[in-house]
Amino acid sequence: MNTNAIGIFDSGIGGTSIWKEIASTLPYENTCYLADSKNAPYGKRSKDEIIALSIKNTEQLIAFGCKIIVVACNTATTNAIKELRARFELPFIGIEPAIKPAALYTKTQKIGILATKGTLSSQLFAKTSDLYAHHTEVIEVVGAGLVELIEQDKTYSTEMYQLLESYVQPMVAQNIDHLVLGCTHYPYLIPLLRQMLPKHIQIIDSGAAVAKQTKAILCKHQLTTPNTTTGTHRFYTNSSTTALKNILPTQEQLAIRLLDF
Ligand code: DGL
Repeated sequence: MNTNAIGIFDSGIGGTSIWKEIASTLPYENTCYLADSKNAPYGKRSKDEIIALSIKNTEQLIAFGCKIIVVACNTATTNAIKELRARFELPFIGIEPAIKPAALYTKTQKIGILATKGTLSSQLFAKTSDLYAHHTEVIEVVGAGLVELIEQDKTYSTEMYQLLESYVQPMVAQNIDHLVLGCTHYPYLIPLLRQMLPKHIQIIDSGAAVAKQTKAILCKHQLTTPNTTTGTHRFYTNSSTTALKNILPTQEQLAIRLLDF
Protein backbone atom coordinates (compact mmCIF):
# COMPACT_ATOMS: atom_id res chain seq x y z
CA MET A 1 0.00 0.00 0.00
CA ASN A 2 1.39 3.38 -1.01
CA THR A 3 -0.25 6.82 -1.33
CA ASN A 4 2.54 8.33 -3.46
CA ALA A 5 1.63 9.54 -6.94
CA ILE A 6 1.73 7.70 -10.24
CA GLY A 7 4.26 9.65 -12.33
CA ILE A 8 3.39 10.21 -15.98
CA PHE A 9 5.45 11.97 -18.62
CA ASP A 10 5.21 12.86 -22.28
CA SER A 11 7.03 15.15 -24.69
CA GLY A 12 4.05 17.48 -24.26
CA ILE A 13 0.32 17.49 -23.69
CA GLY A 14 -0.52 14.31 -25.65
CA GLY A 15 0.06 12.01 -22.68
CA THR A 16 -2.96 13.60 -21.00
CA SER A 17 -4.97 11.19 -23.19
CA ILE A 18 -3.32 8.44 -21.10
CA TRP A 19 -3.71 10.40 -17.86
CA LYS A 20 -7.49 10.55 -18.49
CA GLU A 21 -7.66 6.75 -18.84
CA ILE A 22 -5.55 6.24 -15.71
CA ALA A 23 -7.59 8.71 -13.64
CA SER A 24 -10.82 6.99 -14.62
CA THR A 25 -9.49 3.43 -14.14
CA LEU A 26 -7.73 4.25 -10.84
CA PRO A 27 -9.86 7.06 -9.35
CA TYR A 28 -8.30 6.96 -5.84
CA GLU A 29 -4.70 7.23 -7.03
CA ASN A 30 -2.81 10.53 -6.94
CA THR A 31 -1.02 11.44 -10.16
CA CYS A 32 1.76 13.76 -11.22
CA TYR A 33 2.07 14.64 -14.93
CA LEU A 34 5.08 16.19 -16.67
CA ALA A 35 4.68 17.83 -20.08
CA ASP A 36 8.14 18.38 -21.56
CA SER A 37 6.65 20.74 -24.14
CA LYS A 38 9.85 22.81 -24.26
CA ASN A 39 11.53 19.84 -25.94
CA ALA A 40 8.61 18.64 -28.09
CA PRO A 41 8.42 17.05 -30.54
CA TYR A 42 10.55 14.05 -29.53
CA GLY A 43 9.67 12.30 -32.78
CA LYS A 44 12.30 14.20 -34.78
CA ARG A 45 15.10 13.67 -32.24
CA SER A 46 17.87 11.06 -32.15
CA LYS A 47 17.59 7.99 -29.94
CA ASP A 48 20.31 9.36 -27.63
CA GLU A 49 18.46 12.64 -27.19
CA ILE A 50 15.20 10.82 -26.44
CA ILE A 51 16.99 8.66 -23.84
CA ALA A 52 18.54 11.73 -22.17
CA LEU A 53 15.20 13.57 -22.05
CA SER A 54 13.42 10.49 -20.69
CA ILE A 55 16.04 10.13 -17.92
CA LYS A 56 15.64 13.81 -17.03
CA ASN A 57 11.84 13.46 -16.82
CA THR A 58 12.10 10.30 -14.73
CA GLU A 59 14.53 11.96 -12.29
CA GLN A 60 12.07 14.82 -11.84
CA LEU A 61 9.18 12.44 -11.13
CA ILE A 62 11.34 10.47 -8.68
CA ALA A 63 12.22 13.78 -6.95
CA PHE A 64 8.44 14.26 -6.54
CA GLY A 65 8.29 10.86 -4.81
CA CYS A 66 6.42 9.01 -7.56
CA LYS A 67 6.05 5.26 -6.96
CA ILE A 68 5.76 4.13 -10.58
CA ILE A 69 6.39 5.80 -13.94
CA VAL A 70 4.09 5.70 -16.94
CA VAL A 71 5.94 6.69 -20.09
CA ALA A 72 2.90 8.20 -21.83
CA CYS A 73 4.77 8.64 -25.10
CA ASN A 74 5.24 6.04 -27.83
CA THR A 75 8.42 7.74 -29.03
CA ALA A 76 10.03 7.69 -25.57
CA THR A 77 8.87 4.13 -24.89
CA THR A 78 10.11 2.67 -28.15
CA ASN A 79 13.47 4.44 -27.89
CA ALA A 80 14.24 4.61 -24.19
CA ILE A 81 12.27 2.22 -21.97
CA LYS A 82 15.00 -0.41 -21.95
CA GLU A 83 17.53 2.15 -20.70
CA LEU A 84 15.08 3.53 -18.11
CA ARG A 85 14.40 0.06 -16.71
CA ALA A 86 18.12 -0.67 -16.54
CA ARG A 87 18.90 2.60 -14.76
CA PHE A 88 16.06 3.03 -12.25
CA GLU A 89 14.57 0.60 -9.78
CA LEU A 90 10.92 1.61 -9.79
CA PRO A 91 8.47 -0.06 -12.18
CA PHE A 92 7.83 1.46 -15.64
CA ILE A 93 4.80 1.13 -17.89
CA GLY A 94 5.29 2.02 -21.53
CA ILE A 95 3.03 2.56 -24.52
CA GLU A 96 3.52 1.08 -27.95
CA PRO A 97 1.36 1.24 -31.08
CA ALA A 98 -1.39 -1.38 -30.77
CA ILE A 99 -0.43 -3.40 -33.82
CA LYS A 100 -1.37 -6.72 -32.24
CA PRO A 101 -5.19 -6.28 -32.08
CA ALA A 102 -5.23 -4.58 -35.49
CA ALA A 103 -3.33 -7.48 -37.09
CA LEU A 104 -5.55 -9.98 -35.31
CA TYR A 105 -8.86 -8.50 -36.45
CA THR A 106 -8.09 -7.14 -39.92
CA LYS A 107 -10.14 -8.68 -42.72
CA THR A 108 -8.42 -6.85 -45.58
CA GLN A 109 -4.99 -7.87 -44.23
CA LYS A 110 -4.02 -4.21 -44.45
CA ILE A 111 -3.61 -1.95 -41.46
CA GLY A 112 -2.48 1.63 -41.26
CA ILE A 113 -0.28 3.11 -38.59
CA LEU A 114 0.21 6.78 -37.95
CA ALA A 115 3.12 7.58 -35.63
CA THR A 116 6.22 9.73 -35.27
CA LYS A 117 9.42 9.12 -37.20
CA GLY A 118 11.13 8.22 -33.92
CA THR A 119 8.60 5.47 -33.17
CA LEU A 120 8.43 4.01 -36.67
CA SER A 121 12.23 3.86 -36.99
CA SER A 122 12.79 2.27 -33.57
CA GLN A 123 14.03 -1.30 -33.12
CA LEU A 124 11.27 -2.03 -30.62
CA PHE A 125 8.57 -1.09 -33.14
CA ALA A 126 10.24 -3.25 -35.82
CA LYS A 127 10.33 -6.18 -33.39
CA THR A 128 6.66 -5.79 -32.37
CA SER A 129 5.62 -5.42 -36.00
CA ASP A 130 7.54 -8.58 -37.02
CA LEU A 131 6.11 -10.51 -34.12
CA TYR A 132 2.44 -9.68 -34.52
CA ALA A 133 1.92 -8.43 -38.05
CA HIS A 134 4.14 -10.55 -40.30
CA HIS A 135 1.09 -11.85 -42.21
CA THR A 136 -0.39 -8.37 -42.54
CA GLU A 137 0.55 -5.45 -44.72
CA VAL A 138 1.39 -2.56 -42.39
CA ILE A 139 1.19 0.84 -44.06
CA GLU A 140 3.34 3.16 -41.97
CA VAL A 141 2.89 6.91 -42.21
CA VAL A 142 4.88 9.53 -40.27
CA GLY A 143 2.49 12.15 -38.91
CA ALA A 144 4.97 15.00 -39.43
CA GLY A 145 3.67 18.29 -38.02
CA LEU A 146 0.62 16.88 -36.17
CA VAL A 147 2.18 17.03 -32.67
CA GLU A 148 3.29 20.63 -33.27
CA LEU A 149 -0.24 21.71 -34.28
CA ILE A 150 -1.80 20.02 -31.24
CA GLU A 151 0.78 21.66 -28.95
CA GLN A 152 -0.15 25.02 -30.53
CA ASP A 153 -3.87 24.42 -29.90
CA LYS A 154 -4.57 24.13 -33.63
CA THR A 155 -6.26 20.74 -33.40
CA TYR A 156 -9.43 21.92 -35.12
CA SER A 157 -7.79 24.17 -37.71
CA THR A 158 -8.08 23.87 -41.49
CA GLU A 159 -4.33 23.35 -41.58
CA MET A 160 -4.72 20.28 -39.34
CA TYR A 161 -7.64 18.89 -41.36
CA GLN A 162 -5.72 19.13 -44.62
CA LEU A 163 -2.49 17.70 -43.21
CA LEU A 164 -4.25 14.79 -41.52
CA GLU A 165 -6.27 14.04 -44.63
CA SER A 166 -3.09 13.95 -46.71
CA TYR A 167 -1.75 11.25 -44.34
CA VAL A 168 -4.83 9.04 -44.08
CA GLN A 169 -6.26 9.19 -47.62
CA PRO A 170 -3.46 7.07 -49.17
CA MET A 171 -4.07 4.44 -46.48
CA VAL A 172 -7.81 4.44 -47.20
CA ALA A 173 -7.04 4.11 -50.92
CA GLN A 174 -4.98 1.03 -50.10
CA ASN A 175 -7.99 -0.54 -48.34
CA ILE A 176 -6.94 -0.54 -44.69
CA ASP A 177 -9.66 -1.56 -42.24
CA HIS A 178 -7.80 -0.57 -39.04
CA LEU A 179 -5.92 2.62 -38.27
CA VAL A 180 -3.54 2.39 -35.31
CA LEU A 181 -2.76 5.65 -33.55
CA GLY A 182 0.89 5.32 -32.53
CA CYS A 183 1.28 8.62 -30.69
CA THR A 184 -0.45 9.74 -27.50
CA HIS A 185 -1.26 13.13 -29.03
CA TYR A 186 -3.35 11.52 -31.76
CA PRO A 187 -6.45 10.44 -29.73
CA TYR A 188 -7.26 14.17 -29.76
CA LEU A 189 -7.61 13.83 -33.54
CA ILE A 190 -10.29 11.12 -33.37
CA PRO A 191 -13.23 13.53 -33.98
CA LEU A 192 -11.49 14.76 -37.15
CA LEU A 193 -10.52 11.26 -38.22
CA ARG A 194 -14.12 10.07 -37.81
CA GLN A 195 -15.20 12.83 -40.22
CA MET A 196 -12.70 11.84 -42.88
CA LEU A 197 -12.54 8.03 -42.60
CA PRO A 198 -15.13 5.58 -43.97
CA LYS A 199 -17.23 4.12 -41.13
CA HIS A 200 -15.90 0.57 -41.41
CA ILE A 201 -12.34 1.63 -40.51
CA GLN A 202 -11.62 0.95 -36.84
CA ILE A 203 -9.43 3.45 -35.01
CA ILE A 204 -7.25 1.83 -32.38
CA ASP A 205 -5.34 3.50 -29.58
CA SER A 206 -3.64 2.01 -26.55
CA GLY A 207 -4.84 4.32 -23.75
CA ALA A 208 -7.25 1.93 -22.04
CA ALA A 209 -4.74 -0.93 -22.24
CA VAL A 210 -2.05 1.22 -20.59
CA ALA A 211 -4.39 2.12 -17.72
CA LYS A 212 -5.27 -1.56 -17.24
CA GLN A 213 -1.60 -2.50 -17.23
CA THR A 214 -0.81 0.28 -14.73
CA LYS A 215 -3.43 -1.15 -12.40
CA ALA A 216 -2.02 -4.67 -12.78
CA ILE A 217 1.56 -3.56 -12.07
CA LEU A 218 0.52 -1.51 -9.03
CA CYS A 219 -1.23 -4.61 -7.65
CA LYS A 220 1.72 -6.87 -8.46
CA HIS A 221 4.14 -4.60 -6.56
CA GLN A 222 1.63 -3.93 -3.76
CA LEU A 223 1.75 -0.23 -4.56
CA THR A 224 -1.96 0.54 -4.77
CA THR A 225 -3.27 3.38 -2.62
CA PRO A 226 -5.31 2.55 0.49
CA ASN A 227 -7.24 5.84 -0.04
CA THR A 228 -10.95 5.70 -0.78
CA THR A 229 -11.41 9.33 -1.80
CA THR A 230 -10.76 10.76 -5.25
CA GLY A 231 -7.04 11.23 -5.91
CA THR A 232 -5.35 14.60 -6.39
CA HIS A 233 -3.65 15.48 -9.65
CA ARG A 234 -0.73 17.78 -10.40
CA PHE A 235 0.42 18.89 -13.85
CA TYR A 236 3.76 20.48 -14.65
CA THR A 237 4.89 22.01 -17.91
CA ASN A 238 8.18 23.66 -18.83
CA SER A 239 6.54 25.75 -21.56
CA SER A 240 3.36 27.84 -21.64
CA THR A 241 0.51 26.52 -19.46
CA THR A 242 -2.07 27.41 -22.13
CA ALA A 243 -1.84 24.16 -24.08
CA LEU A 244 -2.45 22.05 -20.96
CA LYS A 245 -5.29 24.35 -19.86
CA ASN A 246 -7.02 23.90 -23.19
CA ILE A 247 -6.91 20.13 -23.01
CA LEU A 248 -7.67 19.35 -19.34
CA PRO A 249 -11.06 19.24 -17.61
CA THR A 250 -11.96 22.48 -15.78
CA GLN A 251 -11.39 21.13 -12.27
CA GLU A 252 -7.82 20.08 -13.16
CA GLN A 253 -6.82 23.43 -14.66
CA LEU A 254 -6.01 24.93 -11.25
CA ALA A 255 -3.46 22.17 -10.70
CA ILE A 256 -1.25 23.24 -13.61
CA ARG A 257 2.17 24.66 -12.70
CA LEU A 258 5.06 26.06 -14.68
CA LEU A 259 8.32 24.32 -13.73
CA ASP A 260 11.82 24.47 -15.15
CA PHE A 261 12.84 20.81 -15.56
N1 DGL B 1 3.09 11.87 -27.57
C1 DGL B 1 4.32 11.47 -28.21
C2 DGL B 1 4.23 10.04 -28.69
O1 DGL B 1 3.37 9.29 -28.22
C3 DGL B 1 4.65 12.53 -29.20
C4 DGL B 1 5.96 12.41 -29.77
C5 DGL B 1 6.64 13.68 -30.17
O2 DGL B 1 6.84 14.53 -29.29
O3 DGL B 1 7.02 13.76 -31.32
O4 DGL B 1 4.97 9.59 -29.52
